[in-house]
Amino acid sequence: MKLFIPGPVQVREDILREMARPPIGHRTPEFRKLFAEIKEGLKYLFQTQNDVLVSTSSGSGFWEAAIRNCTHNQKSSEKILHAVNGAFSRKWADVSRRCGRQVDIIEFGFGQPVDPSIVAKKLGEGNYSMFCMVHNETSTGVVSNLKVISEAIEQFKEAGLIWAVDAVSSIGGIDIKVDDLGIDICLASSQKAMALPPGISFASVSRKAYERAKTIDCRGYYFDLLELKKMYDKDMTPYTPSIPHLYALRRQLQCISAEGIENRFVRHSEMATYTRAWVIENGFSLFSQEEFCSDTITCVENSKGTDLTEVKNRMLEKEYLIDIGYRAMNKILSDEGKNQTFRLPHMGDLETQDMETFLLTLKKEIT
Ligand SMILES: Cc1ncc(COP(=O)(O)O)c(C=O)c1O
Repeated sequence: MKLFIPGPVQVREDILREMARPPIGHRTPEFRKLFAEIKEGLKYLFQTQNDVLVSTSSGSGFWEAAIRNCTHNQKSSEKILHAVNGAFSRKWADVSRRCGRQVDIIEFGFGQPVDPSIVAKKLGEGNYSMFCMVHNETSTGVVSNLKVISEAIEQFKEAGLIWAVDAVSSIGGIDIKVDDLGIDICLASSQKAMALPPGISFASVSRKAYERAKTIDCRGYYFDLLELKKMYDKDMTPYTPSIPHLYALRRQLQCISAEGIENRFVRHSEMATYTRAWVIENGFSLFSQEEFCSDTITCVENSKGTDLTEVKNRMLEKEYLIDIGYRAMNKILSDEGKNQTFRLPHMGDLETQDMETFLLTLKKEIT
């Protein structure tokens, strides 16, 4: 079965084979060598000199880690500002609430990016210690401009604001220069543009974020950034990691380095351009304005009212698993009398040729 869903994505055979290696002890020199190589590869990918911590959880674990390590609970007067422009950014805000934090939300409609000037204005109005946003909203296929946002919030960052960015569906597919942008926590999952099996995640952590964590009680254990850092500095993890994932990760980081991140971003951009053109040629519309469209996933407005469940079933017979839209969002859109959406992912190790083959098959079933 070929996965054309927005994660997990297809994983190459050579990566899968890495996972079949016999396990090694996680307190051995062999493990430390493996982990040291991974650390370097992740720094290259995240374009940072900060630590890039590894958790053998999915990306949502680092959502919680960011909140629990960088903010006090609601007994304090401080608040977290969440930009919400889709399903995942909304979920992260919910995670903050569940951690007992005071949360304010600024809403940008479905299909809209995060607006830097609105964020800056809002940050000036409240006692915010942290600002959280999703770079690439997988539910809507919209990417926000981190450079302009970074500039707009610079004065707040200098005053101590922690800026946390979810790059779950963009890292490895879209350029994110963590250090140039001054992102304190940039978190990502393995199963999207990094084309690895699900079950492992990463977060770059700035010195400022570590300093903040030192002031916070009750950071928990599993997602305590200081605990992770203590062992990271010794090329280890605090507890037994999923060693098969780490073998796969090392292999993929070597391949990413051999391809070169710039080439990887160009490859994703070419696939996106091809896919967007296909959408228009086939009489559908892009869900958002083209300038906001992501290079890893295209969200399509089902403007022709095609029965997507039918199409999905027919594609399954051809060994393709496709996406027929983010369910919760489609429900809201349909309650509002609007067209529903479906998403065409183009991330990971795919090439334009793979998109051509896939979209040719889809065209036969969809029109
Ligand atoms: C933008 C975004 N953030 C967070 C998540 C949650 O990540 P995970 O499933 O790795 O916990 C997803 C999952 O699709 C996502 O697309």
